[in-house]
Amino acid sequence: MSDYVYHLAKQHHSVRKFKPEPLTRETVKKLIEAGQMASTSSYLQTTSVVGVENPEKKAALKEVSGQPYVLDNGYLLIFVIDYNRHDLVNEQQAQDMTTSFESAEGLLVGTVDASLMAQNIALTAEDMGYGIVYLGSLRNDVTRVREILDLPEYTFPIFGMAIGVPSEDENGTPKPRLPFEHVFHVDTYDNDRDMARQQLATYDETVSDYYAERTDGRRTETWSEQVANFMSSKQRLEMKDWLQEAGFNKK
Ligand SMILES: Cc1cc2nc3c(=O)[nH]c(=O)nc-3n(C[C@H](O)[C@H](O)[C@H](O)COP(=O)(O)O)c2cc1C
Repeated sequence: MSDYVYHLAKQHHSVRKFKPEPLTRETVKKLIEAGQMASTSSYLQTTSVVGVENPEKKAALKEVSGQPYVLDNGYLLIFVIDYNRHDLVNEQQAQDMTTSFESAEGLLVGTVDASLMAQNIALTAEDMGYGIVYLGSLRNDVTRVREILDLPEYTFPIFGMAIGVPSEDENGTPKPRLPFEHVFHVDTYDNDRDMARQQLATYDETVSDYYAERTDGRRTETWSEQVANFMSSKQRLEMKDWLQEAGFNKK
């Protein structure tokens, strides 16, 4: 037994500053192949990946995200929930499959599949010495992303990933996660709210200390403050319409 992957996973941190060294197509192919071997619900394989190499398209996607590392990276991948291929199968088979890809369940299956594939890619890339950051910010304007990438019906850009050689001054470190006892339950969900409150209070201190140390005291917010700020701002409320425009989440 080896705990190599355990240690690799524990070292993860998002990288947001890359050297201007593009990944070769050979490396990209390897990453996608590793991603494709992730488990996939009912063998449906509901993900496609668009590698964005055209600088104008990257610049346009950067505008959607507002994040410079969408443009400045070694390679940019966009993960797409993809039932377009199932639509082709549907045309040739006697049964009607449309309800399946238009359902909420179909959307969940596609989201999970894309995430599993992406995380295989992330870990493989990190093992090769690259850094990665996921890009949910591309969902700021799904209609625009669909236009830029020419995405057909029954496809949905769920997130992106910037990959590259970490810049020397990238300066990231693994961020502390919630306590093990807080996220792991045995047999039943332990809903002891006093204990959970205590665990969160301790974790808040850990996170505040982590930020203070990394920013010479300029940032000291707790995890609770961070999630409260984020979750109280109304985020992407057009998503339901964007999903339905693409053919998803209708039932
Ligand atoms: C689906 C997904 C979307 C994300 N979107 C963004 C993003 O748009 N921009 C960004 O800078 N980080 C993004 N992140 C990275 C998270 O902010 C990051 O994983 C989290 O803060 C934990 O930090 P760590 O990855 O360094 O451990 C995203 C992560 C995930 C899983």
